[in-house]
Amino acid sequence: MTLASKNVTWFDGYLTRDEREALHGHKGAVVWFTGLSASGKSTIAHYLERMLYERKCTTYSFDGDNVRHGLCRDLGFSPEDRKENIRRIGEMVRLFVDGGIIAITAFISPYRADREVVRKLVGDDRFFEIYVECPVEVCAKRDPKGLYQRAMAGVIKEFTGVSAPYEAPENPSLVIHSAAVTPVEAAEEVMEILNRAGIISR
Ligand code: ADX
Repeated sequence: MTLASKNVTWFDGYLTRDEREALHGHKGAVVWFTGLSASGKSTIAHYLERMLYERKCTTYSFDGDNVRHGLCRDLGFSPEDRKENIRRIGEMVRLFVDGGIIAITAFISPYRADREVVRKLVGDDRFFEIYVECPVEVCAKRDPKGLYQRAMAGVIKEFTGVSAPYEAPENPSLVIHSAAVTPVEAAEEVMEILNRAGIISR
C-alpha cells in the first residue's frame, strides 16, 4: 500500500515480540468474535477476558461500543464504512499482538473479505475466528437496545440481519451456538482452543 505521508519509516524497536511474550508468559493473539448484534459476542468476550485474567494473561477487549466512540467515531454502517471500521481495528490489534497481548474483539464484522484482511495482517497462527451463531429471530427477541424493533420498522437503515447482509465464516476456529450454551461454557471452549494452539499454557 502506498503511504499518504512521506518520510515515515517503520522502526522495529529494541524489544522483540518473543521477549515481550516471555514477559507476559503467553503469546500474543487475536480472538475475533463475529456474529449478529445481540448474538452474545461481547458477553462471551468478557467472560473470556475474566478467565484469561485468572490465568494472569494480559488482554484487552474491543467492541463497537468503545471503538465507535473514539477511533471510528466518523464511521457509519454502509459497507464502505464497515470495511474501514474493521481495517482500522485490524491495524490496531496487529500492534497488540506485536506487544504480546491477547486482543479480544466483538464486532459484527459482517463481511468475510474484511475479516480475511485482518487474518492476513495478524497471521493465520495468531488469529482465532469465533463465529457466534444465533438465529436472527432470537437476536430480535433479545433486542437489548431496541435496535431490531427500530430496524424492522425501517427507522434504522442497513441493519445487519434485517436490511444488511451477514456473511458467516466458512472455516472458523470455533462455532458457538449461543442459544444453546451458556456464555461461560462458550468462553471455556475458547480457552481450550487457545491452550491447544499454544497461545496460553495449562
Ligand atoms: S460492524 O458491522 O462495523 O462490525 P460494529 O460491531 O462496529 O459493526 O457495531 C455494531 C453495533 O452498532 C451493534 O451491536 C448495534 O448496537 C449498533 N448499530 C447501530 N446501527 C447499526 C446497523 N445499521 N447495523 C448493525 N449494528 C448497528
